[in-house]
Amino acid sequence: MDKLLEISKEALERIAQVADLKELNDLRVHYLGKKGPIQEAMKSMKDMGQEERIAFGKVSNEVKQNVSQAIEDAKAKLERIVMEEKLASESIDITLPGFKVASGSLHPLTHVVNTLEEIFLGMGYQIAQGPEVETDYYNFELMNLPQGHPARDMQDTFYIDVNYLLRTHTSPVQARTMLKANGQGPIKVICPGKTYRRDDDDATHSHQFMQCEGIVVDKNITMANLKGTLELFVKELFGEKRAIRLRPSYFPFTEPSVEVDVSCSNCGGVGCSMCKQTGWIEILGAGMVNPKVLKMSGFDPEVYQGFAFGIGIERVAMLKYGIDNIRDFYNNDIRFLAQFAREDK
Ligand code: PHE
Repeated sequence: MDKLLEISKEALERIAQVADLKELNDLRVHYLGKKGPIQEAMKSMKDMGQEERIAFGKVSNEVKQNVSQAIEDAKAKLERIVMEEKLASESIDITLPGFKVASGSLHPLTHVVNTLEEIFLGMGYQIAQGPEVETDYYNFELMNLPQGHPARDMQDTFYIDVNYLLRTHTSPVQARTMLKANGQGPIKVICPGKTYRRDDDDATHSHQFMQCEGIVVDKNITMANLKGTLELFVKELFGEKRAIRLRPSYFPFTEPSVEVDVSCSNCGGVGCSMCKQTGWIEILGAGMVNPKVLKMSGFDPEVYQGFAFGIGIERVAMLKYGIDNIRDFYNNDIRFLAQFAREDK
């Protein structure tokens, strides 16, 4: 019993002096472990009488509890000290100025696409997508541009092999959308996306550019629907005061075809250098879907008619923001791009 109390006294003293958690853990293992001095002392219990054994057992349990409690207390104390040291050494001076995180902004072409999508979604259109690597079949054949057709030259093409090419316009999405509809109207979609042509890059040409195709197929669709749609679109995009003008044109996939001009924002239509003294600026091509195109894509031209248009996105962006070099869109000069950070449309 004396031995036990001596062990207890020694243990408590040592615990009280411990300076770090590792040392404390060593003491815990030493005193409370199976081979520790308390355990060792308890071995003598087998030679005791019953009464003595009960008394000894009681005291040894108390000793174990005391030691274990002392270790817990010391541990909490040491942990608190460690935490306090850490807090003191890692204190933050919240009065120091912070680092400024540079924030990006949407690309002006993305702003224009977002605006077009908003306008056409508002008119009940859906948004369709198609692949940029297209087949000759969708890009040309189904658009009424068979092999050897002279109008293929209008669209200098990047060919990947005989069958595959980079789409020269978003019009193949017309065919893809119509084929998916299985000859059942109505269809009302726009498809904004990247397009490619083997143009020499200059202030108004880029070998990669963007278009936004639109197509409507339904019963009783006329040129008046096309004109009304484009007029509304132009006024929403450029403002109430702008007018449109349709000029006869040619596209193999539409008949009749038109080129659509918008009245010049700079001079209001009187004539200036921006509109080359004409008062009008061309922004898109359009027309009534050629019956041959309807038929190839599974629609009966006796029942269904349609109109389609292809908007040049860079062209719209250049007019909307007064940009005179198409290359600005692709040079990724932060000073140029940052100007559109606050544009909310
Ligand atoms: N695909 C034509 C082009 O890129 C534009 C267009 C689309 C014209 C739809 C008419 C109808 O030149």
